[in-house]
Amino acid sequence: METPYYLIDENRLLDNLKKIQFVRRHGDARSVLALKCFSTWSLFGLMRQYMDGTTSSSLYEARLGHETFGKEVHAYSVAFDEAEIRQLRAFSSKIIFNSVSQLQRFHSLAREQRPSPEIGLRVNPQVSYSHFDLADPARPHSRLGVIDQEAIREVLPLISGLMFHYNCENEDFENFSSLLDYLSETYGALLQQLDWVSLGGGVTFTLEEYPLVAFCEKLKAFSRRFELQVYLEPGEAVITGAAWLVTRVLDVVSNETDIAIVDSSVEAHMLDLLIYRETAEVEGSGEGSYCYTVAGRSCLAGDLFGSACFREPLQVGDTIRIADAAGYTMVKKNWFNGVRMPAIVVKRLDGTVEQVKRFDYRDYKSSLS
Ligand SMILES: Cc1ncc(COP(=O)(O)O)c(C=O)c1O
Repeated sequence: METPYYLIDENRLLDNLKKIQFVRRHGDARSVLALKCFSTWSLFGLMRQYMDGTTSSSLYEARLGHETFGKEVHAYSVAFDEAEIRQLRAFSSKIIFNSVSQLQRFHSLAREQRPSPEIGLRVNPQVSYSHFDLADPARPHSRLGVIDQEAIREVLPLISGLMFHYNCENEDFENFSSLLDYLSETYGALLQQLDWVSLGGGVTFTLEEYPLVAFCEKLKAFSRRFELQVYLEPGEAVITGAAWLVTRVLDVVSNETDIAIVDSSVEAHMLDLLIYRETAEVEGSGEGSYCYTVAGRSCLAGDLFGSACFREPLQVGDTIRIADAAGYTMVKKNWFNGVRMPAIVVKRLDGTVEQVKRFDYRDYKSSLS
C-alpha cells in the first residue's frame, strides 16, 4: 500500500467501544463521541452500535454527526451566531450554550423548532485536571463556561441540563472521584432541578489499568443522587491505541546523529506533537542499538517525530509506524508544504484492509483558491 497512510484497526477500536458499552450498562452514563477529537466517519457504522451519538464544537461538526452518525446530536460552541442556531435547531437533540448572554439571545429561537432541542449551559467549575495550561478549561481568565452560580440559578427555567468539561488526559481515578464530589457539593442544588448533566471528556477510562468498575459505581451514585441522566463526551478514550501513521523512509542523513527522513510530516500530519512538545511513539523503538531521529519531510527545522532505536540499520524504503495517530491528529491534518496527504486505511473486524480515502493534487489545489 502506498505510504503515507493512517491505519485504523477496528478490532482495537472495538476493545475501547466495549468499555464504553460497559459504562453505559453499569454506570448508567451515555457516551457521545467528541467529533473534535475524531471525525473519520467511515468508522461510525461500528461506533454507533456502542455509543449514543456525537458532540460537537461547531455547526459543521454537528451536521456531520447528524448526517453520518445519527442518534443524539449535542451541539456546543464557544459562540454561535443566529444563522447557525437556525440550522442547528432542525437536527440537534441538545444545544449547549457557553455563556448566559448566548443562552438569553438564542434560547427562544432554538425552541421555535418542533420538536425543539433541549437547552443546556456550560459551567466553568474553576477546578480541572490538565497537564497543559494550553488545554486547561479552568485556567485563569478562561472563556469556557459560566462561573457565576447566581447567574446560572436565574436562567435555570430556560435549561434542562449543564455541561462541565474539566478533565484533560486524566488517568487518575481518585482525582476524578474527588472532583466529582466537589461538583456534587458545589452544584448539587442546581443539579437536583435538572434532567441531565454532561461531564465532558478527558478521562482515560478505556486504558487497561483504569478501574472501570469503580468508575461505573461513582457515575451511577452521582446520577442516582441527583436523578439525572449523565453523559460523557469521550474523544481520545474512544480511539486511543487503535491507529497508526504508516510512513516510509525516503533518506538517511547524518549530522552528529543519524536522521531518517520519512514521507510524512509532524507539522502536517501529527500537529499536536509540536503544539504540546511531545515525541511520537515509534513502533519497534527501543528494540535495538541502531538509533535515529525520525524526521518529517517539511521545511520546518523542528519537524521531528522523535528518537528511535531499531535492531537493524534503517534503509531507504523501510516502513516506520507511529502509534496513536488518530485522536486530534486526522482532524488537524493540513497541506503545509504541499506534502502528500496520508490516505485513510481501515482494517475491518474481519481482517480485510480497505483504503477508505486517498488524497491527491486536486485536493491540495482545491483547499485554496
Ligand atoms: C467540551 C469538550 N468535550 C469533550 C472533549 C473531548 O476530550 P477528550 O478527547 O480528551 O476525551 C473536549 C476536548 O477538548 C471538550 O472540549
